[in-house]
Amino acid sequence: MKRCLFWKWELLIIIFDVINSSMQIKYEFEFEDESIYSDCSDVPPEARNINGLFDMTNLKRIMNQEGIALSGNMTSVFNAQPSDRIEVTANLLYFDRGIWLPTTLNMIVKDFCKVMYDKKQLWYEAWSSHIRNKEAIEDHCIKVYGTLFLMETYTVDLFFGSGMPLFSGRHTLRIRIFAYDQSGKKRPHDVCYEIKGKFYKI
Ligand SMILES: *[C@@H]1O[C@H](CO)[C@@H](O)[C@H](O)[C@H]1NC(C)=O
Repeated sequence: MKRCLFWKWELLIIIFDVINSSMQIKYEFEFEDESIYSDCSDVPPEARNINGLFDMTNLKRIMNQEGIALSGNMTSVFNAQPSDRIEVTANLLYFDRGIWLPTTLNMIVKDFCKVMYDKKQLWYEAWSSHIRNKEAIEDHCIKVYGTLFLMETYTVDLFFGSGMPLFSGRHTLRIRIFAYDQSGKKRPHDVCYEIKGKFYKI
């Protein structure tokens, strides 16, 4: 059963990659909320929200014409150890007549720390390319409690390529982050948060 699930995920990634590289329709994402991150609807048991990942007390976010202007710093508070493997899943949902429905855009990143600064990743332009002290903290990934991420002042402007047309209207990108110890056991207090907004064709 479990294996079958993995297989499905892998297939989705492959499809996602193929879609990414050809015939894609370009969209711009307009954030619904200035703070960028919101809590997951139907929170999985014992999962934490974004505050279980980063302390963002010193991160300023202000919505403007182009996107969200971001400045300041953030501190890693994720319940993980340096030897852990960090897994990230992302699911795109859309809002229809009062409920969030799944789409076929889903992905899993089995070893996030290997690709955190990879230029091809969705989050590179939006986030990790703007970490000023990258050289000093690169090895920490998000696995060392208390790591300070010094952010450039920049505007978060999300672009997104999809092989299939997306519905207009509200979407949410649900992101979940898990830490697995060296024996493969998931640590408690994984994180679930959502980024809500609308896609505009460009
Ligand atoms: C982090 O941000 C806060 C608020 O902007 C600032 O006071 C503090 O000096 C920053 N820390 C570092 C190390 O830059």
